[in-house]
Amino acid sequence: MNKTPLVIGNWKMELSHKSAIEVVSAIKKMMQQETYPADIVVCPSFPSIAAVHASVQGTPIAVGAQNVHHEEKGAFTGSVSVASMRGFITWCILGHSEVRRAEGDSDALVAQKAKLVLSHGIRPIVCIGETGQQHDSDETISVISAQIDMLLSSLDRVSLLKTVIVYEPIWAIGTGKLPDPNEVYEVLLFIRKRIAGHFDIELADRVYLLYGGSVQASNVKQYIAGPGADGVLVGGASIHPRDFMDIVSRTASAYAL
Ligand code: PGA
Repeated sequence: MNKTPLVIGNWKMELSHKSAIEVVSAIKKMMQQETYPADIVVCPSFPSIAAVHASVQGTPIAVGAQNVHHEEKGAFTGSVSVASMRGFITWCILGHSEVRRAEGDSDALVAQKAKLVLSHGIRPIVCIGETGQQHDSDETISVISAQIDMLLSSLDRVSLLKTVIVYEPIWAIGTGKLPDPNEVYEVLLFIRKRIAGHFDIELADRVYLLYGGSVQASNVKQYIAGPGADGVLVGGASIHPRDFMDIVSRTASAYAL
């Protein structure tokens, strides 16, 4: 089936407000000079979301948040509600391993957050993946199956179609360590089969499955080409506009193969 590949930049806590505006301006400029046949999402930190949203008006670039609180509203000092970002974001990263580690988000809480953002018309980007230790002891598939099953039992068909699932081996995030592409294909295939088992093959084919972890322009093709991912979630390289757009174009050309 024909899908447009998706490339998401997770800027983490790397950029000042000024730099965030500079990065998005540079991306916009490159998009005026060249055609990039991919959907592009950038995820700034909370204080820059509104300004980046204003900056991308009239362009195909979409804006996402990096997390959200699981409650609609209330006495949660220091937290950010989905309502406060409504109108500024179309996407929201959930269950990133850095958030799971820092804030203890469980699979159940990630699923709850996914339902919450969906109820506000925002599309979840749900990250799943195993630790290095789990990988080394061959537990990848059992970890992934618990994570994916929780999501599948929480979402209906329409919600799942709006959700993007990112396989990010935790040991590959920010480390420069790259998983064997065949292992990534196996995990992606496992996720698709799981979706097909829960719903059906037609739906499983339509859901976007991405890869994330130390993605660079030099290595992205191997995770996209053939039976690979429908796109990538990029961390470190996404704050460098040229690198990010090189990843976008290589993703698009590998996806077209
Ligand atoms: P990385 O981060 O590209 O720097 O490894 C990926 C991520 O955290 O989503």
